[in-house]
Amino acid sequence: MSKPLRVGVAGLGVVGASLARLLQRQSEALASRTGRAIVVTAVSARDRARDRGLDLNGVAFFDDPRALAGSESIDVFVELMGGADGPAYDSVKAALNSGKPVVTANKALIAKHGLELARLAEEKGLAFAFESSVAGGVPIIKTLREGLAGNSIRRIYGILNGTCNYILSKMETDGLSFEECLKEAQRLGYAEADPTFDVGGFDTAHKLAILASLAFGTAIDAEAIHVEGIETITQDDLAAADELGFRIKLLGVAERTARGVEQRVHPTMVAKSTAIAQVMGVLNAVTIDADAVGELTLVGPGAGGDATASAVAADIVDIARGVAIQPFGRPAHMLEEVERIPMQRHEGGYYVRLMVVDRPGAMAAIATRMGERKISLESIMQKGGARLARRRTDPPPAEGAPETVRVVLITHATSEQAIREALDLALADGVVTQKPQVIRIERE
Ligand SMILES: NC(=O)c1ccc[n+]([C@@H]2O[C@H](COP(=O)([O-])OP(=O)(O)OC[C@H]3O[C@@H](n4cnc5c(N)ncnc54)[C@H](OP(=O)(O)O)[C@@H]3O)[C@@H](O)[C@H]2O)c1
Repeated sequence: MSKPLRVGVAGLGVVGASLARLLQRQSEALASRTGRAIVVTAVSARDRARDRGLDLNGVAFFDDPRALAGSESIDVFVELMGGADGPAYDSVKAALNSGKPVVTANKALIAKHGLELARLAEEKGLAFAFESSVAGGVPIIKTLREGLAGNSIRRIYGILNGTCNYILSKMETDGLSFEECLKEAQRLGYAEADPTFDVGGFDTAHKLAILASLAFGTAIDAEAIHVEGIETITQDDLAAADELGFRIKLLGVAERTARGVEQRVHPTMVAKSTAIAQVMGVLNAVTIDADAVGELTLVGPGAGGDATASAVAADIVDIARGVAIQPFGRPAHMLEEVERIPMQRHEGGYYVRLMVVDRPGAMAAIATRMGERKISLESIMQKGGARLARRRTDPPPAEGAPETVRVVLITHATSEQAIREALDLALADGVVTQKPQVIRIERE
């Protein structure tokens, strides 16, 4: 048997502590798979005294993760602290500079500094692995980088944030509002006290940036992503989606188009018959459209200590076996700059929910504005007059304000610019009384 692989773990929180337990629990199986023992020999955390339910006897403790990263007492550095900069960035760089392969679960770090760190790792001939940074326990990075290396990928899209999927699923099954479901997610520990990063779509964007780079060979660029969250989704939207044969999911979508690689995160209507629409609760899922294999969907736990540690352990096993694949599946210097495609140029179908004044000719005026922009409508749904359409919880219309009805339009493929312009004109015409709700439709 070769000499043991000495692992240094910086961060003993949800993922770090689970990893330490997993490596201990699976020690025999890992040794037989890799031909060497994998042993945690040193750790770092902020609070040395905290009881983490781990046996750290004989394990060196470093107060400073940078010192751990540079220490001669470890062969591989595992970063599980989090944060795009600060100790995570400094220590990963220090580890690579001192000749140690690195494993991290830190999507914020990869989204911001992934390219620079991949270059450094390649220069040094070291592994730099981040399987757990996207979709937790789902092996999506290996699938893209290794399993699908013989394919050309047209589109990749997924549910990459369990918090958002939990909230949307709960809104749908229990008929509750966004705010009520968010509170429940916080109570269950699925959402942070400040949920903006999750529900605003930013966490999904970090993960999408990583997937897009692997799928299309583009230099990671989180700033190129159009991001919208789920805060504006209402029961009206879910009910209309249900009636039209759709579900609403927060998707990260990266797609090769004639205009370049589009990258976007937003609530999306997906047909109920698709694999991704079946994915409910905190689960994650990613669908890949590839030329040779066709369509592939991976579903599984996107977070949680054990599931994430499973992916971290797989990266450590690769290192124990001596595998060091280029982090983005091709030399970092060959990753192409991504062209930033404005969302206005996106083309697809749209769901539009409008409050329209209840008078003859109003719908015709909207149809005219759509027609002027060459937008053709697939369906129009109107639920009775104002008294029928208004919910019990809606405030009564202000005195003198026109009665309105809810109208839902589904368009055939059109451009974002056309739909936005037509709706702005309808608002200016006074036939639409509130900012319309617009949700993009993702077709199979
Ligand atoms: N949780 C998940 O389900 C999940 C899933 C996928 C990816 N990730 C990623 O995994 C990473 C870790 O997440 P987590 O949920 O395990 O976080 P966590 O529970 O908050 O744990 C963070 C750990 O890092 C330690 N730490 C923070 N700053 C430090 C510093 N300056 N020096 C030394 N140690 C420091 C903390 O020490 P103390 O314990 O002493 O405070 C703690 O042990 C993040 O990048 C996250 O995005 C997490």
